[in-house]
Amino acid sequence: MDKPLSIAPATGRLGVLTPGLGAVASTFIAGVIAARNGLAVPIGSVTQMAHIRLGQRDEDRNPLIRDFVPLAGLDDLVFGGWDPISANVLEAARTCGVLEERDLAPLSAELEGIVAMDAVFDQRWVKKLDGARVKPATSKWDQAQALVEDIERFRSENDCERLVMVWCGSTEAYQEPSAVHASVESFETGLRSGDENISPSQIYAYAALVSDVPFANGAPNLAVDLPCMLELAALRGVPIAGKDFKTGQTLMKTLLAPGLKARMLGLRGWYSTNILGNRDGEVLDDPENFKTKEVSKLGVLDTILQPEAYPDLYGNIDHVVRINYYPPRGDNKEGWDNIDIFGWLGYPMQLKVNFLCRDSILAAPIVLDLALFLDLSARAGQSGVQEWLSFYLKAPQAATEAGPEHDLFIQQTKLKNTLREWMGEKPVTHSEAG
Ligand SMILES: NC(=O)c1ccc[n+]([C@@H]2O[C@H](COP(=O)([O-])OP(=O)(O)OC[C@H]3O[C@@H](n4cnc5c(N)ncnc54)[C@H](O)[C@@H]3O)[C@@H](O)[C@H]2O)c1
Repeated sequence: MDKPLSIAPATGRLGVLTPGLGAVASTFIAGVIAARNGLAVPIGSVTQMAHIRLGQRDEDRNPLIRDFVPLAGLDDLVFGGWDPISANVLEAARTCGVLEERDLAPLSAELEGIVAMDAVFDQRWVKKLDGARVKPATSKWDQAQALVEDIERFRSENDCERLVMVWCGSTEAYQEPSAVHASVESFETGLRSGDENISPSQIYAYAALVSDVPFANGAPNLAVDLPCMLELAALRGVPIAGKDFKTGQTLMKTLLAPGLKARMLGLRGWYSTNILGNRDGEVLDDPENFKTKEVSKLGVLDTILQPEAYPDLYGNIDHVVRINYYPPRGDNKEGWDNIDIFGWLGYPMQLKVNFLCRDSILAAPIVLDLALFLDLSARAGQSGVQEWLSFYLKAPQAATEAGPEHDLFIQQTKLKNTLREWMGEKPVTHSEAG
C-alpha cells in the first residue's frame, strides 16, 4: 500500500449550483431526488453504481466506488441555480418534456421549491433566447458581485458545508480567448470596464472561483479553460474541469474509434449527423453557437487516432459533424454515423450507427458524478484542472502541454487509478503479473 492522501470527510450538506436550469439540470435534480426517495436507481452514474477492483484479481476486493472513497451522499445534496427563462425546476422539467408526468408527480413539490435565481444573461451570446429573469445589466463587475452574494446567501440559507458549480446553461457563441482573458488582473479590469469579450459563463466561473467553489463546464464554450481562470483556480486552490458533457454521438465515437485503432483498421471518413428538437437544438441552430459545438466535437478523432503516428491508417480522414434543429424530436435526439473504414490490402468497409438517444438522460448522471468528484477533489486538497475527470467530457481540459486524452477506456483507467492512488492502493495495470 502507498500512503493515502489526507481527504477531509464529507460531513454536512453539499450545495450543487447550476447556472442553467433547463433539460439537463432539471433531469439531473429530479433523478437524484427520485433516487433518494427510493423511486429510481441512479443508472449511468459511476459514483453510485460502479465497483472498483483493488489489488490483484485473485484478491477479490471489488467495492463500490462510493464505499471506497468518501463521497457526499445523495441525501446530503441541496440544489440551486440560475436561469433567465425557467422559473423553477418543475417548470423547467415540464417545459423540456424529458421526464414523464408520472415520474415528476411524486417529486413536484420539491422540484417547484427549487426556484431559479435571476441570471447573468446577455443575448449577444445566445441569440435564440430571450431572457426575462435577469440581473440588471449594470456593470459586469456588479453582476459578478451579485453572483457572489447569491452563492453566499445560498450557502447560509441551506446550511451548506461545501458547494460545487456545474455549468448547465446554453452553449454560448463561438469565441477565441483574447487579451482580457490573459490574467486575473486583466479579467478583473475587463469586468470593471465591461469588456465585450467576457461572456456570462465566464462571470459565473469567476464568481465561483473567488468563492472557493469548484467549477465544471458542461457546455463547449470558453469558461474555465482560460489563462485567467487557471491562475485564479491555482491562487484559490480550487479544482476545475471542462468541457462539454460527453454524451450521445461523441460518447459512441470515443467507444468505437479506440476499438478500430486497437485492431489497426484504417479510417477514411466519419460523417455524423443529428436531429434534435429541444431548446439546446434551437440555440445550436444559430451558426455562431453551432461553431462552438462543432469545434468541441471535431477534436475527438485526431487525438484518439494519432494520424501523425499512423499516416497510412489515419492520415486522410474526412470528419464532418452536423446538427439539425427539428422540433418534433424534442430531447430525443437521433444521431446517424456513417463510418468508412478499410482493412487488409486496403479493402473498404462501412459501419452505420443509428443512435436513438435521450440527451438529458445521458447527461444527468454526468452532472451528478462531476459534482461529487469535484467535491472529493477539493476535500483531497487538489486544485486546478482535474484531468482524471476527462472521462465525462467531450473536449477535456488538459493540465499539461501533452494535451487531452479522448479514449474512453484510457480515461476510465485514469479515473479509477487516481482514486486508487488517493486512497493508498496500487494502480491496476492489467499486466500479465496482475
Ligand atoms: N444534453 C446533453 O447530452 C448535452 C451534452 C453536452 C453538452 N450539453 C450542454 O449542456 C447545456 C445544457 O443543455 P440542455 O439540454 O439542458 O439545454 P437547455 O436549453 O434545456 O437548458 C439550458 C438552460 O440554460 C439557460 N441559460 C442560458 N443562458 C444562461 C445564463 N447566462 N445563465 C443561466 N442560465 C442560462 C437557458 O434559459 C436554458 O433554460 C447546453 O450548453 C448543452 O450544449 C448537453
